[in-house]
Amino acid sequence: MNWFGTNPDGGTSREAEDRDRAEIKANLLFYMVAAASFVEITSHLYTQNLVRYFATDTEMVGWLTRVWKREELGHGAALKRYVQTTWPAFDWEAAYARFYLDFEGECTVTAMAASPAQELVALCVVEAGTAGLYRMLASASADPELRRIANGIAAEEIGHYKQFLRYFLRYRAARPMPIGVILRAIWAQIADIDGIDAYLAFKHVYKSIIPNAPLSRIPYDHFRQACRHMAARHFPYRMVVKMLLPLLPFGPGLRRLLGGSLMLVVRALRFAPS
Ligand SMILES: [Fe+2]
Ligand SMILES: [Fe+2]
Repeated sequence: MNWFGTNPDGGTSREAEDRDRAEIKANLLFYMVAAASFVEITSHLYTQNLVRYFATDTEMVGWLTRVWKREELGHGAALKRYVQTTWPAFDWEAAYARFYLDFEGECTVTAMAASPAQELVALCVVEAGTAGLYRMLASASADPELRRIANGIAAEEIGHYKQFLRYFLRYRAARPMPIGVILRAIWAQIADIDGIDAYLAFKHVYKSIIPNAPLSRIPYDHFRQACRHMAARHFPYRMVVKMLLPLLPFGPGLRRLLGGSLMLVVRALRFAPS
């Protein structure tokens, strides 16, 4: 691995930008895997919030605490091990401690959706998107070990999606949800795909590589752009859109039709290179 940009104040701002872009492009998998390990290994905070939010749903609380939390923490542990083995110069523990301090106050119940059914739509979108992200990592990496880990995680994220979908369909059967509300909930989550957790995870990975980088110089936009380039080649759009279609209360024909439009919108607005 070749980390550039150790002197962020040197040269013109244009030169510094070019250096950032080159740094991120050269080490994109490192940034992605390290940032993902931070978010996954912090799943106990998300679990706490979900358990509080769905407190009256004992079946779901049981699954969240027994299965979901354990598997998400397992994803974090596997990615952490991979980062520490592959990039031993990166001080994972120190960088994660700084991320945690920053993120702890941001991960609150108030950040959740207006109703349980809307929150379940958001969770389905997150799990489908995350499954796509790990499939993308597996496809983009030349390392068989990372491919194995990423494909294993993707399979479990698909399992999480199916379970959240089951809960959502139960809520929707009990109280029908207008299509507009479902579409808005899907869209709100797609639009929030670069949430505060992703930004803070990237920030602390980057700052541990380039400690004296000022906050105004956290090149998150370059990172997102590099991810979008990777997505254009490797993201399984079709799989993810297909996963989201059962959220819509329509028959198979109409779902297929809507699926085509949803795919175009997702691809054009969120993942296509800009
Ligand atoms: Fe996960
Ligand atoms: Fe998951």
